[in-house]
Amino acid sequence: VSEARAREFAAQYGYAEYMVERYVQFIGARDTIQLLKANEKPLVPTIQVNTLQIHRESLQKRLEEKGFGVEPIPYLLNGLQIERTPFSLGATTEYLLGYYTLQGAASMIVGESLDPQSGERVVDLCAAPGMKTIQLAQKMQNQGSILAIDISTRRLRALEANLARCGVKNVVGIQFDARQFSQLKYPADKILLDAPCTGSGIIRKDPRRKWSRRLTDIRQMSRIQKQLIQAGIEGLREDGLLVYSTCSLEPEENEAIIAYALATFPVELVEPPIQMGDPGLMLTKWDDQQREMKKTRRFWPHLHDTEGFFIGVLRKCAR
Ligand SMILES: C[S@@+](CC[C@H](N)C(=O)[O-])C[C@H]1O[C@@H](n2cnc3c(N)ncnc32)[C@H](O)[C@@H]1O
Repeated sequence: VSEARAREFAAQYGYAEYMVERYVQFIGARDTIQLLKANEKPLVPTIQVNTLQIHRESLQKRLEEKGFGVEPIPYLLNGLQIERTPFSLGATTEYLLGYYTLQGAASMIVGESLDPQSGERVVDLCAAPGMKTIQLAQKMQNQGSILAIDISTRRLRALEANLARCGVKNVVGIQFDARQFSQLKYPADKILLDAPCTGSGIIRKDPRRKWSRRLTDIRQMSRIQKQLIQAGIEGLREDGLLVYSTCSLEPEENEAIIAYALATFPVELVEPPIQMGDPGLMLTKWDDQQREMKKTRRFWPHLHDTEGFFIGVLRKCAR
């Protein structure tokens, strides 16, 4: 596809030109058009059942009695897809009682990939507003400990309110710059790094992201993400797991961060336990790591009907 065609698509769908040009370069013209079309369709809402408070079947029944159309998500034990929404999912009694959180399907795979156990010491490096922290706590049955870090005091307040609503009891929240995490000398069994990103995967929820970010934002985010993953790996115990995720489609924020970690630190990639999504992009820049990059996962709006999402699971090796 010529640059002129990419410009045409960008104008037709309301994107910054550089974004569409890059997508054509990374995934080809056919997939790019499919992606732009899929981004026009609203996401079917999905929720994460809070098993600290209720079983999936009981929640499904309660919501159905209120007129919601509810279907299980086949690959997620505690995920439900909401096909019909008579009123806002954030305004039900069940929501206020903390029986569920609003979560994208691909986001729910993050917690499954970290698979934290009851007695473990877990750190959520970029935790607010706490949706994934809640999922981790319920997988740990409120046992063990989670240190939930976020740089934003305002967002931490939201995290604390969400945790209280959902009956989570094994979390301590702190306002801190996670880039300094290793200085805390707090060796973690498992770390979640759900990194800040440019968010081009969530255009279906926030169409302003078609044009609100520039190439320099992607580069700046990529720098911060490298600092965050370095701090995470340094603060992880040997043999510990770190899950890296973003809701961005940009390779500089995804595969490039994993490639940087593999080249710089004693870590190896591990396959996520749920075989959903596509393998990460294998671009020539990361030639020597191409085969490894297959173990990362990408979720695409046009292929998986989810938000755009990336997950990489790293294990820290013994030196
Ligand atoms: C993608 S959001 C996290 C969403 C959260 N994991 C959830 O599931 O609800 C990224 C978060 O990173 C935080 N953040 C950005 N830079 C940070 C830093 N240097 N240290 C700690 N947190 C940071 C932001 O305030 C934001 O809350």
